[in-house]
Amino acid sequence: MIFTVAIDGPAAAGKGTISKAVAAHFGFAHLDTGLLYRAVGAKVLNGADPVAAARGLDPIDLEDESLRTPAVAQAASEIAVIVDVRSALVDFQRKFAARDGGAVLDGRDIGTVICPDANAKLFVTASAECRAERRFKELAEKGMDLTFEQVLADVKTRDARDRNRATAPLVAATDAVFIDTSDLTVAQAVAAAIDAVQARLDAR
Ligand code: CDP
Ligand code: CDP
Repeated sequence: MIFTVAIDGPAAAGKGTISKAVAAHFGFAHLDTGLLYRAVGAKVLNGADPVAAARGLDPIDLEDESLRTPAVAQAASEIAVIVDVRSALVDFQRKFAARDGGAVLDGRDIGTVICPDANAKLFVTASAECRAERRFKELAEKGMDLTFEQVLADVKTRDARDRNRATAPLVAATDAVFIDTSDLTVAQAVAAAIDAVQARLDAR
């Protein structure tokens, strides 16, 4: 069975948390597409050419824990505006989406560009302050020495770059179900997402 769930939204909205839970609930595979851009960004920080890094990306590169830092996130959003970088990553994502047994992909352009025909599309969002607060807590738990203001500025800079770029900007697909997680617990957000996906499965 091919069944693709596309989950898009701004930084730290809860896409990854929801995607993992949806994938586990339905027994689907999950791809965090942000890791592709982070892996390219990390290579560029180490001196690589962005397009060559994207073309040479190995799935093993996605398992590197150092991809979770704010510096890599910024580098990711900088190389994510390059058309040839994005096109080098399309095939891998589309193949993943079409795997037998169902797939959840989360990112910025999954429902609009990578899988415009996805079976279910969610747009997960929350206020910038709320998202920054969550990311700040995560980074503090990992021992990273950053202020809330720095994390908020980082999130806002990336959102603006992601929303305003010419190619595959962050925008909700017209047929996406919106989930604003600002006032939801993780359990409530996950339940809303599972309901939305179940409705699409039932409608098949
Ligand atoms: O993948 P994305 O960057 O959109 O966000 P995430 O890494 O899944 O979530 C960011 C943080 O927000 C995590 O620590 C979640 O536990 C927390 N959170 C959430 O995802 N949803 C809520 N309704 C409340 C908190
Ligand atoms: O976890 P968080 O939401 O903070 O970021 P991420 O999903 O890991 O994405 C890092 C950066 O990669 C984003 O700010 C985007 O610039 C870029 N990205 C993208 O352009 N398209 C995607 N499908 C996923 C990420």
